[in-house]
Amino acid sequence: MPANNLTPVHFFSHGSTMMLGEESESADYWKKCGDEALAHGIKGVIMMGAHWDADADRVEIAMNPTPNKSPVAYVHPSKYVDYELNPDLKTGSRCIEMLRAAGFAAEGNASFDWIHDTYLILIRMFPGGCPPTVLVSMNARFDPHYHVKIGAALRPLRKEGYLLIGSGGAVHNLYRNVYWPMVRHADNFAQPTPPEAASLDFRQAVEDVFRNNSGPELRRAMTRLMKHPSYRGAQATDDHFMAIMFVAGAAGDEEDRGDTGRLCAETWELTNMCNSQFTIGVWPEQRVGGGASVVQSAA
Ligand SMILES: [Fe+2]
Repeated sequence: MPANNLTPVHFFSHGSTMMLGEESESADYWKKCGDEALAHGIKGVIMMGAHWDADADRVEIAMNPTPNKSPVAYVHPSKYVDYELNPDLKTGSRCIEMLRAAGFAAEGNASFDWIHDTYLILIRMFPGGCPPTVLVSMNARFDPHYHVKIGAALRPLRKEGYLLIGSGGAVHNLYRNVYWPMVRHADNFAQPTPPEAASLDFRQAVEDVFRNNSGPELRRAMTRLMKHPSYRGAQATDDHFMAIMFVAGAAGDEEDRGDTGRLCAETWELTNMCNSQFTIGVWPEQRVGGGASVVQSAA
């Protein structure tokens, strides 16, 4: 039976940069998750994205007290330029210590500027102001088990009221995307043709893993997805599939048994990119009798 004192964990597919400026079902869900997090008085956000990796065997924590934002294309600057980031250096130091205690070569990075994979989500979740946030890098070797272990190492922060989020992509192959409707018409949601088979197959495989697994089985099933026959068609590179491993680590303990994932929103972009939004676990009052998650999926 899952514990009652844990914050939920989100895996968000951030999609293209236009997901920041355009309205979508996914954007509505991100806002809903942000509202719920604020209503429950979270202490802060711990997030792994998909655009920052550390070399060798290292993992880094963003420790820049005044980070800039990398600019984004196809989004009006008014949507993000003035949004104030809120790096949580104190909790960042704690994360470094927790990761080191788990055996990682963890270091702070005092010069890292934030990228849209993380601030896009933060702006959409918390338009009224960024909560204290710690960003965790990936490791450039893209070993799924390494990233599961990062999630497992930081999982105790869920008991303290921190919200753990992975920002990547369920189906995210930039080489398969169809860009002309966006380039010609600024329409990132156009679907001039149906998605290709690899996108559809892998999108379903990801949903199946979330829906049908919990606890350690979730971790095993998620890492196994990288051997799925459609994996490489759905993920040309591994970078957007590491945060999902972080999420499986953060929500795949023995104590998480019974908390299967829910597909709560989904937005297709650029024909072949599937931005699925998943949540594992619930807020305490959403749990009936201390049992498994009872919130219904919206999609
Ligand atoms: Fe991305």
